[in-house]
Amino acid sequence: LTRRRLLGTAGATGLVLGAAGAAAGYAAAPAQATPLTALGTGRAMFHGKHQPGITEGLQARGHLVAFDLTAGAGRKEAAALLRRWSVTAERLMSGAAAAHDDTGVARDAGPSSLTLTFGFGHSFFTRTGLEKQRPVSLDPLPDFSSDHLDKSRSDGDLWVQIGADDALVAFHALRAVQKDAGGAARVRWQMNGFNRSPGATAHPMTARNLMGQLDGTRNPKPAESDFDRRIFVPASGSKDPAWMSGGSYAVVRRIRMLLDDWERLSVAAQEQVIGRRKDDGAPLSGGGETTAMDLEKRDSAGDLVVPLDAHARITRPDTNGGAAMLRRPFSYHDGIDPDGAPDAGLLFVCWQADPLRGFVPVQRKLDRGDALSKYIRHEASGLFAVPGGAAEGEYVGQRLLE
Ligand code: HEM
Repeated sequence: LTRRRLLGTAGATGLVLGAAGAAAGYAAAPAQATPLTALGTGRAMFHGKHQPGITEGLQARGHLVAFDLTAGAGRKEAAALLRRWSVTAERLMSGAAAAHDDTGVARDAGPSSLTLTFGFGHSFFTRTGLEKQRPVSLDPLPDFSSDHLDKSRSDGDLWVQIGADDALVAFHALRAVQKDAGGAARVRWQMNGFNRSPGATAHPMTARNLMGQLDGTRNPKPAESDFDRRIFVPASGSKDPAWMSGGSYAVVRRIRMLLDDWERLSVAAQEQVIGRRKDDGAPLSGGGETTAMDLEKRDSAGDLVVPLDAHARITRPDTNGGAAMLRRPFSYHDGIDPDGAPDAGLLFVCWQADPLRGFVPVQRKLDRGDALSKYIRHEASGLFAVPGGAAEGEYVGQRLLE
């Protein structure tokens, strides 16, 4: 978070990146131009212990895209593809053009906090003959009674998450990634999402989702001592293969919000569903957004102030054997159905060191009786092993594929 925010507000960065862009084939911006905002200068780093796109702040635009390897492609072609994707990711994230046939779509913009994140699905290991290297954590997620999953928009051999604070920069990256896939892999599904634009609010605040709630308040924070243990695979001592060291598991769910039903509820009823106030995200037991929730507090009639089936009560790590995840979603809206209902909701992406200690127990519990379940529908699902970040000179996934 700090890395992106710090770079994002550094006034001089734009000039440096402008020069990098020129070297890469983009025309330099006119010398007298003063940037309207620092938004374009935000830059995340490609190389590092972890891949980018996990701990960085939410970006305004997102594309999630899954690929399947083509019939003739195996481990060798997959390795070459990850090498191409890594070159593209590093260049685009620095504000440079793609190495070949750049479309020019992002040419006037800085990196705009672009991140590209790459993952492997369960089927990837069968397709490449790497079953022995397949993490047990990639075992298919259990069925949940509330699932309405479209298989053609679920799973996939490979997964790419793209995020940027500018829509053209994000689209540019999406096209580049697709073109790099060439004959080796074909798009299986693709989804587009968004978040609030940085700077739209008077001060930085937790994002709102399309139900209008502050969403992300209780996310684990990088500064917390157990953050790494909860989110990233350790170098040793876990059930994971060595190549997953520094990696994480992403659970992706396309969750439609039944907004017509939701919006018919009064604000007070909506707050009962979540257990938090809609305006400032404070627990119904009182205080402000970050005040600890009092789970035992009762009103004058003796009823629990935070209902037993409130989403924010049910999902708490302390009621789930410590299960924790980092939620880093995008909202989506894909038009209006013939019956007038918006095809809108959350591209829910959550990160954890072990999905069996993160997403699965929490979703099981939600499935058994969460007040929010009536207003949402899980329509697609994916689980991906996201390897650690590439070191200098390395490509993403090299420790698996070399
Ligand atoms: C908390 C909304 C789906 C796990 C919250 C909060 C809101 C919210 C408003 C309270 C603020 C916060 O701490 O972020 C939603 C919506 C969903 C959804 C609108 C679907 C459209 C899910 C799913 C899971 C999940 C599928 C996991 C299986 C959590 C967790 C917390 C949380 C772990 C924080 C609990 C805590 O640490 O206190 N959600 N949520 N949510 N949600 Fe969801």
